Amino acid sequence: MTKIAASILACNNAYIGDCVKKIDNAKADIIHIDIMDGHYVDNLTFGPQMIKNIRNLTNLPIEVHLELFNPEKYILNFVDVGADIITLQLDTCIHPIRILKQIRNYNKKAGIAINPTKSIEDIRYLVNYIDYVLLMSVEPGFGGQKFEEIVFEKIKKIKEIFSDLKIKIPIGVDGGINLENSKKLKVQGVEILVIGSALFQGDDLVETIYNFKN
Ligand code: DX5
Ligand code: ZN
Repeated sequence: MTKIAASILACNNAYIGDCVKKIDNAKADIIHIDIMDGHYVDNLTFGPQMIKNIRNLTNLPIEVHLELFNPEKYILNFVDVGADIITLQLDTCIHPIRILKQIRNYNKKAGIAINPTKSIEDIRYLVNYIDYVLLMSVEPGFGGQKFEEIVFEKIKKIKEIFSDLKIKIPIGVDGGINLENSKKLKVQGVEILVIGSALFQGDDLVETIYNFKN
């Protein structure tokens, strides 16, 4: 079944603890937390302290999506506070293999995110070092953006690469996901949907997450 990674960027940030408890109660599968530095993207969000506090509120896996420069400097900070999955933006990594190995050495899952306009061909050379590929369906930096349809084509291509290499790695999609495009993503076999705005628009998160899953 498709997993739902709930992005807390879209919830009312004055009540993040409540929001995390609601996500947990509504049976999302992953808490997705965007870490933005104001340099790689024009937005600022959360740091390790936030992850540490959230860790005490839920047993759900926590994914930190590092949308920042020099990610290698921050891996240990996020490991120490309880992140389970650390996802890097490929275009921020000068030596991706080295950083991915570093994440796995801490027994954490290593993800790699590819922006909408970037080729997925490099993934071919990283398959032995990743647990997860995250296809960005918006340019990173903000919630509530429009889904880039080009992602459908990229999913097909990445699946071809995986079948060519006889390997299976979960694929996630992040950005602009709504009920309509989620159906198409599921048909394509996307395993993880990262969803922000569309989860927190309605009043009933339990029902919303149920609808996305079924
Ligand atoms: C964008 C982030 C996304 C964002 C998704 O930089 O990586 O995780 O929170 O939010 P929506 O669903 O609003 O596009
Ligand atoms: Zn994200």
